[in-house]
Amino acid sequence: MIGGKLAANSYHMTEATMASEAPVQTNLGGTWPTTERPAHVPPEMVRDTVVYYQPTTDVDVFSATAGMHETLPRVFFSLDKFGGAMEGSWVVTHYDDIRDVYQNAELYSSRETANFQQMLGETWKMIPISIDPPEHGKYRLLLNPWFSPKAINQMEPRIRATINDLIDTFIDKGECDVAYDFGRLYPVRVFMDLMGFPAEKLEEFLQWEYALLHSYGDVQKMTWGIGSAVAYCREYIEEVRARPANNLTSHIVHGKVDGRPLTEDEIIGAVAFLWVGGLDTVAATTSLMIRRLCFDQALQTKLRDNPALIPDAVEEFLRLHPIVNSPRLVTRDHELHGAKLKAGDWVSCFNSAGNFDEAEFSDPREFRLDRPSNRHFTLAGGAHRCLGSHLARRELRIALGEFLRRVPQFDFKPGCDRAASPGLIAMPRLPVVWKA
Ligand code: HEM
Repeated sequence: MIGGKLAANSYHMTEATMASEAPVQTNLGGTWPTTERPAHVPPEMVRDTVVYYQPTTDVDVFSATAGMHETLPRVFFSLDKFGGAMEGSWVVTHYDDIRDVYQNAELYSSRETANFQQMLGETWKMIPISIDPPEHGKYRLLLNPWFSPKAINQMEPRIRATINDLIDTFIDKGECDVAYDFGRLYPVRVFMDLMGFPAEKLEEFLQWEYALLHSYGDVQKMTWGIGSAVAYCREYIEEVRARPANNLTSHIVHGKVDGRPLTEDEIIGAVAFLWVGGLDTVAATTSLMIRRLCFDQALQTKLRDNPALIPDAVEEFLRLHPIVNSPRLVTRDHELHGAKLKAGDWVSCFNSAGNFDEAEFSDPREFRLDRPSNRHFTLAGGAHRCLGSHLARRELRIALGEFLRRVPQFDFKPGCDRAASPGLIAMPRLPVVWKA
């Protein structure tokens, strides 16, 4: 998924990250390669997607997609490896088309996504993300019980304690860096607790994660990040194999699919992808929520005074901040709104356009607490709909609720950079201040 831009908008790994092709300079400090236009793609269907990844000081971090539905072809082709696709990619931007792509796994396959293991020269697959239905379902069956609302209820007191421990570290100072001191840390602690990883590994986990997801095309650093994490996961897998424990790693190691134990490749694939999926996504969303509340002081007051509104607010924050776009592989030649897609082409779901489609959401750029339905794509759709969605929502609700409960009216630290990028690495720093 990563190579400058890819880091910013998808958590899918591509060969592009490893290959050195003609690079395009990005504003993210790194580069990413573009591909040749395939012969079957007419030049008039090609559009530049670099514009969709620029940092902005607009309140609406995704403002670059405004007007897209009126001005662009319904399906266009990006020469960039958009959204984690491994080559140039078709891009669907309308709500209905994105939903159809997610729901039609037979025509749009996930089999080549999130191939981080390729950086290590290994061939196992990330599970469940790169397995298509019906095979995919058996892994969800194994993992779902640990991510059900009931399971998350049991985790809730520990999540709350983790979040409050962090707030304790800065509450008296009158300021904190929400991105660095808060959002970066609590999802990792919650995740380590879920997996059973010892708390003293926190610093190392943070370093590995940072190297993998924030190194903008520095292949060596990224390989070190994923390599270290995988090596540690393997060590821990052996530990729980010998001494079963009540945690998710042990559940996977001692679990069964189709009535048989998982293979070594399946075990590492499932453990490693959980590590990739659940950390930066929650961190980025946390920063973007708090950033928005700095811009909108009235909303901040309203939510602080009415904590019952927080679940709807989190849902709306999620809709407004679709930080991940998802790639799929076309399995058969077919036509889609005039575009001739060939088997083997990539097609990317541009969630950050679909969530703002007026055909589905009225006043789509507005933050609204009274939406009759809010079926956004931030957590994707179809079979691969985010496994961690209940956990993510609960983490975000508790983080926002506790932050508002304990931190009085806050604002950007004067002079700080308010720019955010419309992707996974939205805001590495977010200094805010309040009257201590
Ligand atoms: C705000 C936070 C989160 C966002 C925005 C997010 C987003 C997504 C998206 C868009 C997908 C689908 C990718 C695709 O179809 O190509 C996905 C899948 C997944 N996510 Fe999340 N995620 C979040 C939090 C989490 C957490 C906390 C976990 C677990 C610790 C997690 C684990 C997973 C897994 C395992 C999958 C693969 C599901 C499957 O293939 O069936 N996610 N997520």
